[in-house]
Amino acid sequence: MPGQFRYPISELKQISKKVEDLNIPGILIFGMPEKKDEVGSESYNDKGIVQKAIKAVKDNTDLLVITDICLCQYTSHSHCGLICDEKINNDETLKVLGKIALSHAKAGADIVAPSDMMDGRVGAIRKELDNNSFEDTLIMSYAAKYLSSFYGPFREAAHSAPTFGDRRTYQMESGNILEALREVELDIKEGADIVMVKPALAYLDVIYRVKNKFGMPTAAYNVSGEYAMIKAASKMGWVDEKKIMEETLLSMKRAGADIIISYFALEYASL
Ligand code: PBG
Ligand code: ZN
Repeated sequence: MPGQFRYPISELKQISKKVEDLNIPGILIFGMPEKKDEVGSESYNDKGIVQKAIKAVKDNTDLLVITDICLCQYTSHSHCGLICDEKINNDETLKVLGKIALSHAKAGADIVAPSDMMDGRVGAIRKELDNNSFEDTLIMSYAAKYLSSFYGPFREAAHSAPTFGDRRTYQMESGNILEALREVELDIKEGADIVMVKPALAYLDVIYRVKNKFGMPTAAYNVSGEYAMIKAASKMGWVDEKKIMEETLLSMKRAGADIIISYFALEYASL
């Protein structure tokens, strides 16, 4: 997408300094491993790309470092969980997610953010962190994450579109609000410190309902497709990019988001 890049470790110092200088409080790190396999083993390699990135950012800034916890960028099939007989094996996946979270915590992550949508993952990660003396590492769960076509540009950039099937057995059905609220409630019970709604723009009602019902620190993820649409329309000369960006981000805040994760962060903060 215009203005978005995959950074090598060597450029992290410069870009994270820029983020900090603009008073953006934190960053969310995703990794692009050199090799993928059936079980996503590169994800919990203590010398992996994200683990290195965490250290690089921590060494050079005081930024809050959040890391994405999922398997889809590390598995050859690009699903968010382990596959057994063409189906997701939820409970086996939990063990791996715990290992990834611990590996990120050891590297210095302040908050781990599971985006896989397996059932029971927040509890499993909390237990693994606590058992290893990382009680102070927080969990921001992608609690209400919908099956969405707005993730297209991200999947292209991360080479993480599933090679077969789709994510509907683990991500939320778009028309369903009550199940989303149940998912959020479960994550809170399992120990989530921050709950997230994703995508943001087409799900502002979900943000509103979640914030109102639970009163938890609530995050909104302004995803790749939302960013791409505004960029494309403004390039065509159809909308005023700056104004639309501000109005869009404001709508998330108005709906109740305490935290907004956005590809617009640098641009918005520059204003
Ligand atoms: C997968 C993941 C996705 C995004 C981040 N992590 C979506 C998906 O493919 O299910 C999307 C982010 C974006 O579109 O900006 N765990
Ligand atoms: Zn995933």
